[in-house]
Amino acid sequence: MLALPLECLQVCDAVAQNKNMSVRILGIESSCDETAAAVVADGREILSSVVASQIDVHRKYGGVVPELASREHLRQIVPVVREALEQAKMQLADIDAIGVTHGPGLVGALLVGITYGKTLASALQKPLVPVNHLEGHVHAVFLEAHKSGSEPKLPAVCLIVSGGHTVLYEVTNAVSAQPEMAVPQGGLAPFLYRKIGQTRDDAAGEAYDKVAKLLGLGYPGGPILDRLAAAKNGVPAPVKFGSIKTRGNPYDFSFSGLKTAVLYHVREHPEYAPEIHRREESLARGERKYEQLLPLCSSQTLALVREFQNAVVRDLVDRTLAAAEELSAESILVSGGVAANSQLRATFEDRAKSKGLEVFFPSRALSTDNAAMIAAAAYSRFKSGIFADTSLNADPSLKLA
Ligand code: KG4
Ligand code: ZN
Repeated sequence: MLALPLECLQVCDAVAQNKNMSVRILGIESSCDETAAAVVADGREILSSVVASQIDVHRKYGGVVPELASREHLRQIVPVVREALEQAKMQLADIDAIGVTHGPGLVGALLVGITYGKTLASALQKPLVPVNHLEGHVHAVFLEAHKSGSEPKLPAVCLIVSGGHTVLYEVTNAVSAQPEMAVPQGGLAPFLYRKIGQTRDDAAGEAYDKVAKLLGLGYPGGPILDRLAAAKNGVPAPVKFGSIKTRGNPYDFSFSGLKTAVLYHVREHPEYAPEIHRREESLARGERKYEQLLPLCSSQTLALVREFQNAVVRDLVDRTLAAAEELSAESILVSGGVAANSQLRATFEDRAKSKGLEVFFPSRALSTDNAAMIAAAAYSRFKSGIFADTSLNADPSLKLA
């Protein structure tokens, strides 16, 4: 993977050797339905972060349409990168390296960012750093913690929970785990990852999106269900969802059964149909805000949404805390789009505290896909001299561990 022109290696060397010189990395992210670019200094200081969301394009299909995603990335990539540089008050020439997501994700979408990243790297003679999107989500937590002057202690258990992923990793400091390894000069020690568990079917965010769709609540489902679940109505749940059972690995997840249970409950109770229809009409008129949908939800629907969210949150928190206890983790990291969920945050805070564990979340903006997390993850790879050449390709099922 390493075949850089001589001038480029000299730049990396000069930057890597000089402790006082700040390393500014341009991050590019295009793995799914957000075109994003950001400039981050020394892996932790966000100088700019721009995200162009494609939600409006995919909304009428109730999910991401890969062909449309690639086309939108093509339209957005140049203005988004330009905007990120402007916000950082920088020119392309001021960038020390380019970090780009090369997987996992949609192949056509990834290729847009990779091709643009490669072109910039070769035109500017700057190093190109390949980044795993999931490692980006881990670094989003560290970016946020840095803002408040804290740093999560390792080893940590990290839950990445989004529309495409629900996975638990053990995160350790590579230098503590392998004492023969030196911390790159002025750099953050690279992390080592071990996968502890993952979803066997739907990701949690996917279950949110599908349940919202079947209830006539639009796309994406997470934010609206989050708010509706918090609406007070005093009605008991019309159906009880017990804890989710998975055989074998206790840290594996499964959300498709829960989604199907909601579907069957709604099908078996025809009284839901008229209100679902009214909400679908509201969405068709473009009236999809919480304030517009709430009056169209019966108490029974609100109680059903609350029961669904209780089941998801309970499962995510139970398994993550159990893994953290078993591995004697020092902290818990939670990242990905679903990490924006209010009840998930509150429940984690509560239950982790009672076990003496610290839990870290990115801000809502850093929880969902963004490029600041990609630039942050690129930094320790840059410091370790992990670069890509022009043969870098998209890897839709790239693993972190
Ligand atoms: O990380 P992300 O932006 O993209 C993926 O990599 O999937 O996550 C998007 C997912 C969607 O499924 C969306 O419904 C969910 O995150 N989501 C939420 C919330 N905000 C976004 N799920 C639950 N509660 C939320 N507040
Ligand atoms: Zn993501």
